[in-house]
Amino acid sequence: MEEKRKIPDEVRKRVEELRKEIEYHNYRYYVLNDPVISDYEYDQLVKELIELERKYPELITPDSPTQRVGAEWVGEFPKVEHKIPMLSLDNTYSYDEIREFDNRVRRELGISNVEYVVEPKIDGVAVKLVYEDGRLKVGATRGNGVVGEDITNNIKTIRTVPLRLLREDIREIEVRGEVYMPKEAFKQLNKEREEQGLTLFANPRNAAAGTLKLLDPKEVARRKLDICIHTLGYAEPSIGDNHYEVLQRLSELGFKVVPYFKLCKNVDEVIAYCDEWADKRDEQPFEMDGMVIKVNTFAYQRRLGATSKAPRWAIAYKFPAQLARTKLKKIILQVGRTGVVTPVAVLEPVFIYGTTVTRATLHNADEIKRKDIREGDWVFVTKGGEIIPEVVKPIPELRTGEEKVFEMPKNCPVCGSPLIRYPGEVAYRCENIRCPAQVKGRIVHFASRNAMDIRGLGERTVNLFVDNGLLEDFGDIYYLRYEDIVRFEGFGDKSARNLLENIEQSKKRELFRLIFGIGISNVGLYTAKLLARHFHSIDALMGAKFDDLTSIEGIGPVVAQSIINYFKNPENLKVLDKLRRAGVRMEEEIKEVAEQPLKGLTFVFTGALKDFSREEAKEIVEKLGGRVSSSVSRKTDYVVVGENPGSKYQKAISLGIKIINEEEFKKMIGRE
Ligand code: IVH
Repeated sequence: MEEKRKIPDEVRKRVEELRKEIEYHNYRYYVLNDPVISDYEYDQLVKELIELERKYPELITPDSPTQRVGAEWVGEFPKVEHKIPMLSLDNTYSYDEIREFDNRVRRELGISNVEYVVEPKIDGVAVKLVYEDGRLKVGATRGNGVVGEDITNNIKTIRTVPLRLLREDIREIEVRGEVYMPKEAFKQLNKEREEQGLTLFANPRNAAAGTLKLLDPKEVARRKLDICIHTLGYAEPSIGDNHYEVLQRLSELGFKVVPYFKLCKNVDEVIAYCDEWADKRDEQPFEMDGMVIKVNTFAYQRRLGATSKAPRWAIAYKFPAQLARTKLKKIILQVGRTGVVTPVAVLEPVFIYGTTVTRATLHNADEIKRKDIREGDWVFVTKGGEIIPEVVKPIPELRTGEEKVFEMPKNCPVCGSPLIRYPGEVAYRCENIRCPAQVKGRIVHFASRNAMDIRGLGERTVNLFVDNGLLEDFGDIYYLRYEDIVRFEGFGDKSARNLLENIEQSKKRELFRLIFGIGISNVGLYTAKLLARHFHSIDALMGAKFDDLTSIEGIGPVVAQSIINYFKNPENLKVLDKLRRAGVRMEEEIKEVAEQPLKGLTFVFTGALKDFSREEAKEIVEKLGGRVSSSVSRKTDYVVVGENPGSKYQKAISLGIKIINEEEFKKMIGRE
């Protein structure tokens, strides 16, 4: 074997010196915005380091400033367990609620006045960073709060993340923060994507989340993410006994901490500071959706503790929904797959919460009348839950007299058949089962992810195929031929073959997907699973009587009647027959009763489980024949209690429901 080459001590020393120096100048430049050397001098340092590392590659360490953009991941990111769960925050929406929070805190602590730190709530992705002996070891996402994903390589590309701390005496430290995409970078990214014909990100938060999940750090590095550290997980040795002091210490260690944090002596100062920020948020280079209010003293934080979801020593104050003013050009009608007709406002494009909005829902005709919204009106628009834009109200003062009062038409805008409104319902419906809008909607639903999951058969393709007479219902999907598809623009040999292959694959999907996909009114995914588990085949379901159906726990009379009606309709039977003839699987094996030890039992989970995410636990219970509910009632059989259980725990006690811990749960499911 070749003898290991000796590296001169001066080289080792110089490499170390260079790294420290470069890290410091990074901090001055990226975090403080206050460089103390010229770009040229900085580049010389980096060049020298690169040169030495090239000569002595043995000296390269993952925390060297030359290694910010590392190798690509293959497959999934590794999982990391959080030493301390990463919690979320409870929200408040008014100053009264902030006062209530303060009252509760003071009452529980038994003191008359409490100091708070108030800081911007940055709309990004929660991450934690762990340093050992001053070097970055792990950067991870929050995941389900207990287990996250190790995305160290991507986090390292963010220039404001120190790879080494500026102080060397901290043995171990974990900090939490928010990775975000600055507004400018977001606009730029979407502009590029638009030019390349890629789908646009809805807002900077989604863009940041999507970017952090990329497997190639080179692409991440291009996207200009940034970070703000806002919470200390733990530090050994301690770096302070209150939040305010710790934020200052973290800054000295080289972190970019959340800006504009302020120490407030009492709740009045807290509210005044929140108020000051309501108008200033738009000027910030990052999206913020509120302020976070934290009890300053750590000893008090510890005494207050946490629920399973959020600490009880902090709260978020969410700013009132942002309203944007724009002109409502006209009202159009959308016909869904069930025939329900929804009015939609077409707007002059307006920028709100990081996106350009051109459409907004008006819910239904009654809402339009109640709010007196007219075509041509100036209106206020917001995003409900910041996702779906909604017209809040018109601005009547700006009317010119040209505006048109909206009248619901008598006929379906797509097929012309009369619209019907049943007593007690707000919705107008088109009852023509052959209405092209409904036909398309039903096919899209059938092919959608939770149903038969036929990739490549989305809305655009379905529209194309229906408009060209290839599809009349979802049964026709299985009779599409290569030569039918390949002639359309946008399809080549490969995409046509892929689509046919995906269609073929879908024939073997689980029964519940089929039951969900065929679109029985009132039968969602959950009910479809119940039905599949109970009947094991479409034929058995088809033959079920009303009483058979209602005797199933979880199926009420409305759902039962919908199912009966569906199978009475000869049109539906014809489509089912097409599926059968094409070889779509319409039954599944009957599981042995022995495999269903939780049959008929209802579980509720509270607190964090060590070995399962909530989703996993739910899946297991359902597989074994049980049911998971989100709230405790007299019908609950077991409440499974994890770490930091919430109010469901108390409720279970007060109702006398059987409470078990994770170990006992594992025994029940045979996973000791
Ligand atoms: S403190 C244990 N401070 O908001 C307390 N969170 O809606 C942890 N967030 O999951 C949260 N800015 O990712 C805190 N200044 C700030 C924040 C902040 C944004 C995020 C955080 C949290 C989410 C809750």
